[in-house]
Amino acid sequence: MTTIIANWKMNGSHSTTEALLEGLSPVLRAAPSGCEVVLCPPFTLLDSVGRHLRGTKVRVGAQNCHQAREGAYTGEISPHMLAESGVTHVLIGHSERREYAGEDDALIAQKLQASHKAGLKTVLCVGETLAEREAGQVHAVVERQLKAVNATHFASYVAYEPVWAIGTGKTPTEIDIASMHQHIKSQTGGIIPVLYGGSVKAENASTILAIPAVAGALVGGASLDIDSFSQILHAAYQINNA
Ligand code: PGA
Repeated sequence: MTTIIANWKMNGSHSTTEALLEGLSPVLRAAPSGCEVVLCPPFTLLDSVGRHLRGTKVRVGAQNCHQAREGAYTGEISPHMLAESGVTHVLIGHSERREYAGEDDALIAQKLQASHKAGLKTVLCVGETLAEREAGQVHAVVERQLKAVNATHFASYVAYEPVWAIGTGKTPTEIDIASMHQHIKSQTGGIIPVLYGGSVKAENASTILAIPAVAGALVGGASLDIDSFSQILHAAYQINNA
């Protein structure tokens, strides 16, 4: 199984989304059974994207959620609300939330558990910063991020996203990706699919997806472009058929 998850971040209006989904429609409909495609738009577009994708195998995911089921948490959205709205997946602990929303391992652990309990497929994002990499702490950082949230029990997928590779056009070497993915697998019992994220593009998708320990990709910027994302999906379909 190859999984491609699109993270639109805080991008997209109703009109741009309509155009994007129309453009992607042929490739989304062509997904072979061994490929799973998930689109994660902003909250305001979850419903319309879901409606658009009805009748296809493509799933809808959220980029974040609150850790409580309900209550006096102004401006928040719970995992149960997402599940009730037809959302099947949720990103947890994305580095932009760790950085800009101050999410720490303790909070991420709560969100991960709550989402799992609500029946959502959880995509736990982990990865080191450049400073941590330069200090030789890559394994230690990722091990902490996995253990602190009990990933083995509550993560449906782990997305390895080196922070320095997100939105920068830089990617680790194939050898680095392979060894990190092996390491994450060894830390999580070997059964949780490990996706790669960070500057996945049309140009590098085939190479990255062909690495045996890579179960798929979490795609940011390139998922907003019809041509780029179509090519990434075709690369995934081909690997799955090979
Ligand atoms: P990018 O983002 O593909 O634009 O680097 C990936 C992500 O943040 O999930």
